[in-house]
Amino acid sequence: MIKMEWNDSFNTGIELIDKQHQILVRAINLLGLALERGSNKELMDAIFETLADYTATHFADEEKMFDAAGFPESEQHKHTHQIFLQRVTELKAQFDAGGDNAREVLAFLVDWLQKHILGTDRKYIPYVLGTGGQMRMAG
Ligand SMILES: [Fe+2]
Ligand SMILES: [Fe+2]
Repeated sequence: MIKMEWNDSFNTGIELIDKQHQILVRAINLLGLALERGSNKELMDAIFETLADYTATHFADEEKMFDAAGFPESEQHKHTHQIFLQRVTELKAQFDAGGDNAREVLAFLVDWLQKHILGTDRKYIPYVLGTGGQMRMAG
């Protein structure tokens, strides 16, 4: 089955970000498990929706954090997030319309998240850690 294994190379050292990335990985694996078990569309859709929502929350928190740290590649990074969310919206619309694309969706999510965490996200780490940028979750 399509599964994303968490390993130490994913760690950023920023507590909130690591926590959120771990939850994203878990949500992706939940979707994979639901697919594997032949779960009905309703359950798959609920997980997919939660994953999409939580991803948007994570991006917003991450952007707030690196903006506060004066990260110079902020606009580029935000653009990457935006493109990803657009793609997820498209894939979700296809899925909702009865498309048989769950496997494609999963492969895309795993590949994207892995590359993003291991590549793009690493760039802001020194800025955020350098300014002591631990952000508290609101509420
Ligand atoms: Fe990011
Ligand atoms: Fe991230």
